[in-house]
Amino acid sequence: MQCDQTNEMCKRRSFLAGAAGMTALAGATQTLGCKNFATASAVKQTAAIDGAGFPSGFWWGTATASYQLEGAANEDGRKPSVWDTFCRIPGKVENGDTGDIACDHYHRYEEDVKLMADLGVKHYRFSIAWPRIIPDGRGAVNEKGVDFYKRLTDCLHKNGITPHATLFHWDLPQVLQDRYGGFQNRAIVADFGAYAEAVGKRLGDRITHWMTMNEISCFAFGVGYGVGYQPPHAPGIKLASIKERSNTSHHALLAHGTACQALRATSPRTCNVGAAENFNAFVPVYETPENITAAKKAFMRDPANGSIITPLLTGRYSDTWMADFAQNAPDIRDGDMALIAQPLDSLGFNCYTGTYVRAASTPKGFETIPCFDAYPKGSMPWLNIVPESIYWGIRQITDALGRNDLPVFISENGVADGTKPNTQGEVTDIDRVMYLRQYLRNVLRAVSEGYPVVGYFPWSMMDNFEWACGYSKRFGMVYVDYATQKRVPKLSYHWYKQVIRSNSVV
Ligand code: BG6
Repeated sequence: MQCDQTNEMCKRRSFLAGAAGMTALAGATQTLGCKNFATASAVKQTAAIDGAGFPSGFWWGTATASYQLEGAANEDGRKPSVWDTFCRIPGKVENGDTGDIACDHYHRYEEDVKLMADLGVKHYRFSIAWPRIIPDGRGAVNEKGVDFYKRLTDCLHKNGITPHATLFHWDLPQVLQDRYGGFQNRAIVADFGAYAEAVGKRLGDRITHWMTMNEISCFAFGVGYGVGYQPPHAPGIKLASIKERSNTSHHALLAHGTACQALRATSPRTCNVGAAENFNAFVPVYETPENITAAKKAFMRDPANGSIITPLLTGRYSDTWMADFAQNAPDIRDGDMALIAQPLDSLGFNCYTGTYVRAASTPKGFETIPCFDAYPKGSMPWLNIVPESIYWGIRQITDALGRNDLPVFISENGVADGTKPNTQGEVTDIDRVMYLRQYLRNVLRAVSEGYPVVGYFPWSMMDNFEWACGYSKRFGMVYVDYATQKRVPKLSYHWYKQVIRSNSVV
């Protein structure tokens, strides 16, 4: 089976769109309280824009995630994650692929870090595999698993690259899913906190930049746990009710808050703590004041935004989300909202696509413009190419949530390609160059307008295990020949190298 437009396995973001489409269930307008955890450095940084380029000290980086590239699934004490289990259920992953070997990065990290150094990045986002650190989900720490991240981060530092670690990029220890339903159960909060503490204590001397979670709105709100359909990602739990889903994402938010506290409490050095979220960005179909207001309204009414990024950054679920969900709202205990809205030092924005909006004389005051079937896509059915979404997403953190104090970095931005090496052995992924260049121009626009944007981490450093699509989709700037594990830098890698060198869009 091919991971193409018709393959349900690869349509994961249509589930999110579906979740967004649950406005009938959800709806939502809101007023947004906002706390100010002023970290003015980002705003200051934008003052140093050099000509048409980016601020000096801008974080040029790249990104990956543990299960997608490490391999070594059974080595040095690692135990299964929900993805190891899921891959073995027939029909769940394209071609029956697994992350057992992936890019074999566990053994080849030195070669990969060299490629990063040659690319010129000074920052690298990766994730730590919980099942390597605490293989049984709770309890004993596996020092051999920790050692891998010591080796990796030492190698990064030696090459002048700052490590940015995500604690959780979807590889939940299977044992916790079996024991109590993973994120479905509030018990996850303490276990995730203990894991964060173990990591902070052991790796906090080497890592000062942290993200707690990757895309709560994706794994907990649509693709890992879902209502009314079979979710396409691990653990693939069909929940019985919307309320169960609300509680699942609520537990993930609480786990994020607990991890922020644990990292700060245990880290021996001052650290920068944030999260990586793929909130939904809404793009005015053309920029008139009416359409700009309509896009802001759409951002605020979006159910995924109202229930994930809004509480994360403002300490409250959006009023309309709470009103519309009524009996399906999560069980909120005293102190929960303060725990969720921990002060953040920065926010990672994973941006791939967006939704066009215009003003309308409807009760909501806006209407979305759907992308037609032939709309340009990045080799994935959900990936409509909407370059302005990155600018509007950044801007809506300020306009809609009032958080212009919060430094934002692009923690993921990318596109799949189907390009293979040509007869000269080159991979000329011109589609990725086109995509990244257009999005980056929009990041530059945000920078030049004074929005506090501090970095850019395209997804991904190299081709890797693409979740339900297995190895059939490639998001990398480096081509990986999985049979030989040979790495071939693509045209986009060479393009990005010039971007970094010139500190501008080329
Ligand atoms: C991001 C994830 O949302 O999307 C990545 O954080 C993932 O891990 C990327 O590789 C590509 O999307 P998909 O649909 O293949 O999961």
